Amino acid sequence: MKKEFLDLGKQPLGNKFLSEEQFDTEFFYNLKVVFDEDTKLVSLKEFVRPEQIFDAEYPYWTSKSVPMIEHFKNTAVMLQDEFEIDKVLEIGSNDGTFIKNFRREDSVCVEPCGNFAEYTNKELKYKTYSEYWTTELSEEIKSSYGKFDLIYSANCISHINDLEDTFQAAANLLTGRGVFVFEDPSCLSVLKRNSYDQIYDEHPHLFSVTSLDNLLNNHGLELCRVDNLEVHGGSNRIFARLISDNPPEDSVIDNLKREEEFGLNDFETYVEFGKRVEKSKEDLLDILHKAKSDGKRVMTIGATCKSSIVFNYCGIDNNLIDYITDTTPTKINKMSPGKHIPIYDYNYFCENHPDYTYLLAWNHKNEIVKKESGKYKGRWITHTPKVRIHDTF
Ligand code: TYD
Repeated sequence: MKKEFLDLGKQPLGNKFLSEEQFDTEFFYNLKVVFDEDTKLVSLKEFVRPEQIFDAEYPYWTSKSVPMIEHFKNTAVMLQDEFEIDKVLEIGSNDGTFIKNFRREDSVCVEPCGNFAEYTNKELKYKTYSEYWTTELSEEIKSSYGKFDLIYSANCISHINDLEDTFQAAANLLTGRGVFVFEDPSCLSVLKRNSYDQIYDEHPHLFSVTSLDNLLNNHGLELCRVDNLEVHGGSNRIFARLISDNPPEDSVIDNLKREEEFGLNDFETYVEFGKRVEKSKEDLLDILHKAKSDGKRVMTIGATCKSSIVFNYCGIDNNLIDYITDTTPTKINKMSPGKHIPIYDYNYFCENHPDYTYLLAWNHKNEIVKKESGKYKGRWITHTPKVRIHDTF
C-alpha cells in the first residue's frame, strides 16, 4: 500500500528553462511523494510522461563537468579491472562520457534524448538506439547483439516510471557471468541531508538498497554489491546479477542493516522527514525576507533542477532572488521554470557580485568554492542539511 508523506506543491518541469513567450504554455504537475509499505520504495504519486522531459533539447551534458568526466573514467577502469567484460551496454548514455572508455565495437548505447543519440551515433560513432529502455527494445538489441557482460546506467534507472519492465529488460540481456551496475541518488542520503530538492519529475523514484533488493528479486536478479558514493550528494552504485547460489558481498548486508537502523523501512521516518522539509522552507523564507528588507542583493549559483523545486515549493520569485547564474549556454538568458527568475552568465555574476549567494548547485560545492576563493567577498546561503548563512566556506 502506498502512503503519502510529502507535498511539494504544484511544480513545473525542473529542467525546462524557458523564454517569455513560453510562459503561457508552461506545464505543471502536482509533486506529491509516497512510500510503498510493501516494497519500501519511495516514488512520486503522479508520474510525468517521459516524452515531456527527455526530448532533443535536454540540457544536461555530462562532459561539461570535469569531476563527472573523472568519475566516469574511474568507474569504467574499475569495472574493466574487476569484471570480465566482452560487451557493454549503457542505458541513458547522455553524451557518451562513460561509454567512451570502452571500445566502440564492444559497446551499445540506449539514449532517448535525440540530441545526445545523434551526437554519440554521428560524432563519437558508438551504436546508439534513440529510444526508451523497455523489454521490447531489449529483445531487439538481443537479436542483433546477443547478451552483455556489463549493463551500466548512471542517474537513469530512477528516472524511469515503470521499474518492473526496466528490471525485466536488464535481466533479458545479462550473460550468466554478467553484472548490471547502476548509480542513483541514495534515499538514506536524501533523508540525512534533508535534500528534498532531489525529488522531482525526472526522479520518479528514490532508491533505498532495501527497496531494490525487493524489486530486483521479482525479475530473477539479486544484489551482489553496493558502493556508497559521494556524487550528487550521496549515491549508491548497485551491482546486481542473475539469481545465483553465491552469497552477496558484505556491503549488501551492511547497507540493508544501516537502512533498517535509520528507519528507512518505517513510514514514520518519512513523515518526520516531511516535517523537516516544511521547517527548511520556513527558515529559508525568513533569511531571504530579512536580506531583502535590509536592502541586500541575493543571487543563486546553479540553474539546477534542484533550484526549480526549492523556488516553486517555497514560493520564491524575482522579488527575493535577483538573478541566477549558470555556466550552461542553453540555460543562459532564459528564465527559471515556474518562478521565472532570469538566468545570466558567469561574467554577469563576476561584475555584479551580490551580498548573498545561495548555492543551489550544492552537489558542485567544492568546484564552485575553489573557483570563487579570494574573489567573491559576499556571504553564502545553503539549505542542506539545514538552512544556514556562511561567512565563508
Ligand atoms: P546539475 O548538477 O545537473 O543539477 P540538477 O540535476 O539539479 O539540475 O546542474 C548543475 C548546474 O550548475 C549546471 O547547470 C551547471 C551549473 N554550474 C555553474 O553554474 N557553475 C559551476 O561552477 C558549476 C560547477 C556548475
